[in-house]
Amino acid sequence: MKDSIRQLIQHALDRLTEQGVLPEGLTPAIQVENTKDKAHGDFASNIAMMLAKPAGMKPRDLAQQLIDALPQDDQITKVEIAGPGFLNFFQNSQALANRLEAALADERLGVRKAGAHERVVIDLSSPNLAKEMHVGHLRSTIIGDAVARVLEFLGDEVIRQNHVGDWGTQFGMLLAYLEEQPAAAQSELSDLEQFYRAAKKRFDESADFADRARQLVVSLQAGDAECLRLWHRFNDISLSHCQKVYDRLNVRLTPADVKGESAYNDDLPTIVAALLGKGLLSESDGAQCVFIDEFKNAEGNPLPVIVQKAGGGYLYATTDLAAMRYRSQVLHADRALYFVDQRQALHFQMAFEVARRAGFVSPDMRLEHMGFGTMNGVDGRPFKTRDGGTVKLVDLLDEAEQRAYSLVKEKNPELAEDELRQIARAVGIGAVKYADLSKHRTSDYSFNFEQMLSFEGNTAPYLLYAYTRVASIFRRAGTSMDVLGGQIALQAEHEQLLAGKLAQFGDVLNTVGEKGVPHLLCSYLYELAGLFSSFYEHCPILAAEQEAQKQSRLRLAALTGRTLKQGLELLGLETLERM
Ligand code: ARG
Repeated sequence: MKDSIRQLIQHALDRLTEQGVLPEGLTPAIQVENTKDKAHGDFASNIAMMLAKPAGMKPRDLAQQLIDALPQDDQITKVEIAGPGFLNFFQNSQALANRLEAALADERLGVRKAGAHERVVIDLSSPNLAKEMHVGHLRSTIIGDAVARVLEFLGDEVIRQNHVGDWGTQFGMLLAYLEEQPAAAQSELSDLEQFYRAAKKRFDESADFADRARQLVVSLQAGDAECLRLWHRFNDISLSHCQKVYDRLNVRLTPADVKGESAYNDDLPTIVAALLGKGLLSESDGAQCVFIDEFKNAEGNPLPVIVQKAGGGYLYATTDLAAMRYRSQVLHADRALYFVDQRQALHFQMAFEVARRAGFVSPDMRLEHMGFGTMNGVDGRPFKTRDGGTVKLVDLLDEAEQRAYSLVKEKNPELAEDELRQIARAVGIGAVKYADLSKHRTSDYSFNFEQMLSFEGNTAPYLLYAYTRVASIFRRAGTSMDVLGGQIALQAEHEQLLAGKLAQFGDVLNTVGEKGVPHLLCSYLYELAGLFSSFYEHCPILAAEQEAQKQSRLRLAALTGRTLKQGLELLGLETLERM
């Protein structure tokens, strides 16, 4: 809907430009928002206020001219000027009802992508394989997965890239340990964290061991077969740990999505050579650097992107340049989205700039760092175990399931054990994911079990429960929410409000896909569930007075149920039919 309104406004702008009312060459981004108060219509735009100055007109005068120039559209009943010059659009409730009927008959719920379909690389999860996944990897994994699902639902072609850290000096230490103590290593590998610590301990206490570790890095880099064998073995084990976490988290990542740093090894010399060829390299203390004037340090000197160390070694940034080139030239991506900690923002800004200058990516490819904030403990400080260690992701998930289990058991002591377990899994894992996804991506947040497992507020349990309530209506009616077609009549106020919200699903998904912000989908589902509650309270469904009304309300309920289910699935949450 927002998109159609944008198009109407664009028509009006074109007309006014033709008539000479507006100067040539204005290409504003037209903003259309949902109104909060329905007395002000359903949608509002500030376009007249934005263009008043360049047009040399008063905002309200321009607003009136725009209204006069707007094409007729049967979805809009009237357009009014409000306040300093807002345009308020009132939606035709018959047109709204028709849209919902069409959505109900469509397995994609009437959702369409606003722009052209694209090929999108999503860089997500990307843990370092030397260690076990810890809570720091949660955000990248689940936010990236949710955005990937949304873009796929909108019809984009999504290519997931798990850019794991599978190369670097730490591997020398791990290989040395594998070599020295094959038996101990075998059992300790079931706990990578412990394995890493044991290897580190040997590295710190024995100079010989440390020397061997450094030697192994060199042999590994030189392609020594035995080293490569050990290295493969280690990575396979580490990746299988990751895969278990992905499966448990219900994240759509498979071994086929792994394209780690090591995959770009052979490209690194060619990256440096290409930069040299373009005249972009300068030497600084023996290191090969690209200096970019826009990025300066505190003293005002340009910052370098170092692509090769004095000793010849390559860096994180070099690999990222190679990955960008691959994503553009081999995968032909229109966009690449990087779900990586906000603290790497500068790295990406600079690397993107170097890639552009060097022509590693096609000029119209969009490179977007989708940074995220830190997950803190309840005390607001970085999340740690009691003794100050990093929290392993599996431990966190275990605790979430355990707590959900106790909660559900307390509420429904009569449930069979396996059903309890199944509900506890959906609720526990769902709660952890939802708590994260519902926060604004770029802000830090406090991880709080009690809050995320509450049945009140914007939480997974609340939404999962809201869905089961809709499902139970259909059980009682003896029908399914999937097969309903037919007419919807919007009469009561609560029907209208619910309908208006239902019609926003597509707009919300488009914004989530464009900006990489799943929290908007969470708030949307939360509001939808709230409006459904009031609708349910005020508008009897199964006990409706007339059959036509009952059917119409059932259809609204069906669309609500399917929207909730689809929305939760896009967030990567498993829904339950009862709980
Ligand atoms: N392995 C890196 C880390 O743990 C994240 C990699 C992100 N992706 C990338 N293309 N740089 O910090």
